[in-house]
Amino acid sequence: MSIKVKRTRTFISGLDGFLQGGLVKGSTTLIVGSPGCGKTVFCLQYIVRGAQNGQPGVYVSLEEPPDQLRFEAQTLNLGLEAQFGKTIEIVDAATLRLGLSPQGRFALSSERFTLEGLIEAIQQARDSVGATRIVIDPVTPLLTLETSTEKGVGSVAEEVVARLGGFLQRSGMTCLMTAREEEARLGYITQGIIGLEQREVPGREIVELKRYLTVRKMRGTQCPEKILQFRITGNGIVLTE
Ligand SMILES: Nc1ncnc2c1ncn2[C@@H]1O[C@H](COP(=O)(O)OP(=O)(O)O)[C@@H](O)[C@H]1O
Ligand SMILES: [Mg+2]
Repeated sequence: MSIKVKRTRTFISGLDGFLQGGLVKGSTTLIVGSPGCGKTVFCLQYIVRGAQNGQPGVYVSLEEPPDQLRFEAQTLNLGLEAQFGKTIEIVDAATLRLGLSPQGRFALSSERFTLEGLIEAIQQARDSVGATRIVIDPVTPLLTLETSTEKGVGSVAEEVVARLGGFLQRSGMTCLMTAREEEARLGYITQGIIGLEQREVPGREIVELKRYLTVRKMRGTQCPEKILQFRITGNGIVLTE
């Protein structure tokens, strides 16, 4: 008898059919790719479409201030504004790092910018909307974040990853995290890896820029045996195959 795996849809148009219905509930998937390849668009779509379909979410932003993220969602016509503060919260972990004024109720300050402070902010944001989905975009800065260990305050990446992974698992939320490259240390806590890529493809008259998505790893799921092509449109990511 095969086990029935509980899944949650990505709401990336055309992708869920290739994932036997979606991501394994409660799992963590790493989205990797170079700048501009669509990681943030992917994550925004996952959170906003999820919230519109009864699955509230938390977006932890470490690079882009919440205002910028909300603006991007508007250009993509995702409808984030209607959900913001109701079924979506943004944890601002970006402005502190950029030296800007904090934005929103869940902004990290210099006193709270430790792994424990971040987890506390995430818990508050999660409780505020009853989140079942979470995005950490990008996860890389967390690898050098301070955490208190028995040996005192340190920034042992393995320790940070283990604690973050433990928290995510206990929370039961289905997580997407982004990084430019695959990061071996994240292997402990990620059950899936999706690669995004832009490639120059010579056409008949011009060189075209095409976007590709590869499911590199997805535990408990039969991965598509081909590279999928996609476009970023005024309505977000659409797989074109
Ligand atoms: N409203 C939009 N319409 C069409 N394409 C868009 C729109 N917004 C962003 N994009 C495309 O998405 C790209 C940025 O993707 P993004 O997710 O921010 O990349 P990453 O997070 O991987 O660095 C832009 O370079 C642009 O090509
Ligand atoms: Mg980004």
